[in-house]
Amino acid sequence: MERTFIIIKPDAVQRGLIGEIIKRFEQRGLRIIGMKFMQVSRELAEKHYAVHKERPFFNSLVEYITASPVVVMALEGTDAVAAARNTIGATKPTEAAAGTIRGDFGLEIGRNLVHGSDSPENGLIEVANFFTEEELVSWERNNDPWIFE
Ligand code: RTP
Ligand code: MG
Repeated sequence: MERTFIIIKPDAVQRGLIGEIIKRFEQRGLRIIGMKFMQVSRELAEKHYAVHKERPFFNSLVEYITASPVVVMALEGTDAVAAARNTIGATKPTEAAAGTIRGDFGLEIGRNLVHGSDSPENGLIEVANFFTEEELVSWERNNDPWIFE
């Protein structure tokens, strides 16, 4: 089953939106296989956002994601990457549809609340960057047959 990696970013944690955001992924039907509250180090932030290294916003992005604690999640499900990104909404919150996390809670691109992997390949890489194998739980939900056909 496809995996995706989620970060509930510092702004969302500071604003008390952890539960609200987890709820949305949970009710979508994605299955949580890993979750923890942590402080991201500068080293890990630079690794996670390495594709943006040459972009002008790279430093502020690293500052943002390391500014205070985050919640990281590994989720599994049908088309998990696309499903999570649709639940998150467009990168720029003012362009994100109402009903998405960014569309309901955000205004600025540098305070856009949540990260979600952009491809199944990156989903696997990012989950492995943030979780050890022991921290990931393989399990079956009782209602899986009512979510996965
Ligand atoms: P994310 O990786 O955080 O899930 O966001 P995304 O795929 O929607 O957007 P991406 O292009 O990967 O950009 C990563 C994060 O960098 C910040 N950003 N700032 N100032 C800017 O023009 C700019 N562009 C991107 C955002 O916080 C974005 O989520
Ligand atoms: Mg991205």
